[in-house]
Amino acid sequence: MKVIKDRETLDGWLEECNRQGDEVGFIPTMGALHAGHLSLVAEAQKSCSKTIVSIFVNPTQFGPGEDFAQYPRTFTEDRAKLEEVGCDAVFLPSTETVYPPGGQTFIRVEPLASQLCGASRPGHFQGVATVVSILLNLVRPRRAYFGVKDYQQFTLIKQMVRDLAMAVEVVGVAIVREQDGLALSSRNSYLTAVEREQATALYRALTAAKTLYQDGESDSKILEDSARQVLLAAGIEKIDYVEVRHSETLVKEWSGQTPVMLIAAKVGKTRLIDNMLLNQETAINEGNG
Ligand code: PAF
Repeated sequence: MKVIKDRETLDGWLEECNRQGDEVGFIPTMGALHAGHLSLVAEAQKSCSKTIVSIFVNPTQFGPGEDFAQYPRTFTEDRAKLEEVGCDAVFLPSTETVYPPGGQTFIRVEPLASQLCGASRPGHFQGVATVVSILLNLVRPRRAYFGVKDYQQFTLIKQMVRDLAMAVEVVGVAIVREQDGLALSSRNSYLTAVEREQATALYRALTAAKTLYQDGESDSKILEDSARQVLLAAGIEKIDYVEVRHSETLVKEWSGQTPVMLIAAKVGKTRLIDNMLLNQETAINEGNG
C-alpha cells in the first residue's frame, strides 16, 4: 500500500491510476479505523479498481472544548488494517497540506448545517464541508464513500456535491453494529464498561420507534417520545435530540416519505449519535446487530 503525505506524490499516484484507466474510490476518514471504516473500503473495492483512504483529524470541525486533542490517533494500527484489506493507498496529509497558509474559503451548507448536531456544534459542518470539498478536489475520485451513521453529514455532503456540481458520486454505506446493536464509532473507545452497556439504549430506542411506526404510528412526537423513554430508562438523561425527519432532506415534514429517526445523546462525557430509517423496505442503514 502506497503511503502518500503530500500533494505532489498524490498527483503522481493519480496520474498513474489515470494512465492505467483505473476508477478511484475514495474514503475520507479521521483514522482510528474500525470495521465500519473497513466496510467502506470493501464497498469501494466492489466498484472501483483503486481505493484510497485519507486519514486526517480535521481541526476545523472540532469546536472549542471538543475532543480534537484527545481524538484517537492510531496510524500504525490503521495502516496494518488497510494493508490487510488490500487498500491501494493511504493519504496522510499534514494540516498545511490540507490548509495551506492564507486560505480564505469555507463552505456553508445552510440551513442543513445549523440544525440537529449543528445546533449544539456550531461550525462543525462548515469544517466538515470545507475539508471534504478540499479532499475531493485533491483526490478527484470517481466515487466517495461515507458511513450513514453520520446521517446528517452524509445528507449535507450529497447536498454540497449537488449544489457545487462536483464530479463525484457520493455513496452511503450501512451502519456496522456490534452484536448488541451499538453502532461502531471511534468515540466508543471513550466509554467505561458501565457506559458501554448504557449506550446500547440508542439502538433499542431506535428499534422501539421503528416498531411503533411499522405498527401504524405516524406522529413524530409519539415516535420521538417512545425513543426518549428508552433512553431515560437506561439512565441517559443528556439527550441532545431525538428527531424524526424526512430521510432525503432532513426537514421536519416527512408525511408520505420515508422517515429517519436521528438521536444524539451524551453517555457519560461521550456524545454518541445513531439513526435508523423507520421504513424497513427502503432501509439502507440496517445494521447487523
Ligand atoms: O466522518 C468523518 O470521519 C469526518 O467527518 C470526515 C468526513 C472524514 C471529514 O473530516
